[in-house]
Amino acid sequence: MVETIVLRVDRENPDEPVVKRAASIIKSGGLVAFPTETVYGLGADAFNPAAVERVFKVKERPPDNPLIVHIARFEDLYDVVADIDWRVEELAKRFWPGPLTLVVKKNPSLPKITVAGLETAAVRMPRHKVALRLIEMAETPIAAPSANKSGRPSPTLAEHVLRDLEGEVDLVLDAGPTDIGVESTVLDLASEKPVILRPGGVTLEELENVLGDVEVHPAAIGLLLQGETAPRSPGMKYRHYAPRARLVVVEGALKDVRRGIQGLADLLRSRGFRVGVLGSDSYAYRADALRDLGPRSNPAQAAKLLFRCLREMDDEGVEIILAEGWQEEGLGLALMNRLRKASGGVMLDARRLIRELKSSPSRIYTEIMGT
Ligand code: TXA
Ligand code: MG
Repeated sequence: MVETIVLRVDRENPDEPVVKRAASIIKSGGLVAFPTETVYGLGADAFNPAAVERVFKVKERPPDNPLIVHIARFEDLYDVVADIDWRVEELAKRFWPGPLTLVVKKNPSLPKITVAGLETAAVRMPRHKVALRLIEMAETPIAAPSANKSGRPSPTLAEHVLRDLEGEVDLVLDAGPTDIGVESTVLDLASEKPVILRPGGVTLEELENVLGDVEVHPAAIGLLLQGETAPRSPGMKYRHYAPRARLVVVEGALKDVRRGIQGLADLLRSRGFRVGVLGSDSYAYRADALRDLGPRSNPAQAAKLLFRCLREMDDEGVEIILAEGWQEEGLGLALMNRLRKASGGVMLDARRLIRELKSSPSRIYTEIMGT
C-alpha cells in the first residue's frame, strides 16, 4: 500500500507546480493517474519496464494486453514507432491531439513489457491540457491504460479512479469529469488495410473521410466474444467495461424496446430483484433506479454519461441493468460496443422479448439469469 495523493488541477490552465510534482513522480518510476479527454489514464514512464510492470500489477491486467503510449509532440513518435507512413502523418494532422490511437510497427527501443511482447505499438496524443503538460514535463512518453481495475467501467471522474485504485497509485490529478467519456478509437495500421480494433472518440465516418475504405473488426462491433476468434487486439477477448450488476441490452424499434424493457423490469422486480434502467429522452420507466442517457439524437452525450451511470447503479445496489439499444452511427458505434461487452453478449430483440414475456416468461428469465 502507498499513500495516494490527490491534487486538483485546472483543466484549462494546469497549475505548473502541481503538474511538475506529478511529472517528477513519473520520472522516478512512480504511477500517476491523470485526466485525458476520453477517460482517466494510469500513467507510467513508457521506457521504464519496472514502472510499467507496476501498472499491470495495480490494474490486475492480463500480461498479454499491451498499453497505449501517450505522446505530447509529433516528434516523440520517432522514439515509439519504427514506421511513419503517409497515413500516420495524415491522421495525426487531422485528429491529434485527440481520441485516436494508431497501431504501428514498434521502435526496438520501446520495452517489450509496454507492448506485451508484440511487434507493434499503440500510440496517441491526447487533447487534454493536463495530459499534454504532464507528458511534456515528464520528458518521456507515458504508457497508460484506463485507470480502472481490469474489467470495470473506465473512470470518467477522479472519484472513480480512487474507488478502484486508492492505496495503489502514487498520485491522482483531478481535473473534473472527462469530455468524451469513452476511450479512444484504436486503429490498426500495421497491415495494408486500416482496421478499427476498438471504436471510440473518433468515428468510423471521420476516418473514412481521410482513408477511404476502413474495416471494422467484428470484435470491435462486439459480435465476437471471449474465445471465438484469434483477437487482433489482445483487449478484445476480455469481458469489459462491466458493472457488478448483470446487464441486458434490448434492441429494436424504440416503442417495442420501451415496452419490452418495462415488461422485463416488472417481471424481474416481481421476483425480488433490484432493477435499473438505462433510458433516453426522459422516458419514465418504473424501476428501482433510472438513468437517462439524453436525447436519442445525441449518442455522443449518451457515450459521455455511460460509464458514470453504470458505476452509479452499482453504488445503488442495482442487480440487473436493462439498457436501450442505440443506432450504431457516429459515437453510437462506440456506445453499443461498450454496452455489448458489458452485457457479456446478453442482447434481446424487443419484439421477441414482448412475445415471450406473454407466452413463456420463465424462459426469458432463465435466458437472462442462467438457471
Ligand atoms: O482513451 C484511451 O485510449 C484511454 C486513455 C487513458 O488514453 N486508454 C485506454 O487504454 O483505453 P486501455 O489500456 O484501457 O486500452 C487499450 C486498448 C486495449 O484494447 C489494447 O488491447 C489495445 O488498446 N492495444 C494496445 N496496444 C495494442 C497493439 N500493439 N495492437 C493492438 N491493440 C493494442
Ligand atoms: Mg481499459
